[in-house]
Amino acid sequence: MNTFIYPGSFDPVTNGHMDIIDRASKICDKLIVAVLISHNKQPLFSMEERVNLLKRAVGHCKNVEIDCFSGLLVDYVAQKNANVIIKGLRAVSDFEYELQMALLNQKMAPDIETLFMMSNINFSFLSSSMVKELARYGGNIRGLVPECIEEDVLNKFKK
Ligand code: PNS
Repeated sequence: MNTFIYPGSFDPVTNGHMDIIDRASKICDKLIVAVLISHNKQPLFSMEERVNLLKRAVGHCKNVEIDCFSGLLVDYVAQKNANVIIKGLRAVSDFEYELQMALLNQKMAPDIETLFMMSNINFSFLSSSMVKELARYGGNIRGLVPECIEEDVLNKFKK
């Protein structure tokens, strides 16, 4: 059984993430989308909210599971009996940070591979931070996040 882990903050999930989830789920037996329980970052959506938004968004994908983790990613990957971390790369600007993480993870756990998938060109500009910025100031987020969560994102900023 070939299990991939797709880790991230997903605050909130965007259509860029959805593109990676769709494509990665086709090349593995099971894809676990793992939401980081971060102790440093202050997310807009709580961990439960981020997990629920993802669950709704990926409802149609049979071999995709949503989970959360804290601590080191490589420990979580081993605990799930997985051996591949899948990441999306949008632009050169992502590369340095992703390279650093991939090499660190490789040093800690040589048996775990990090695979990079190039983001769909249509989403190469997209990030959760940009979605939040748009939603905060009344911008249009249609097409940037899964339709079924659009309202939840907009409502976060309504008084
Ligand atoms: O969506 P993000 O915020 O870019 O995701 C970052 C994530 C969750 C992949 C990264 O922060 C992570 O793996 N955190 C877990 C802690 C860890 O293992 N750190 C060592 C690797 S640098």
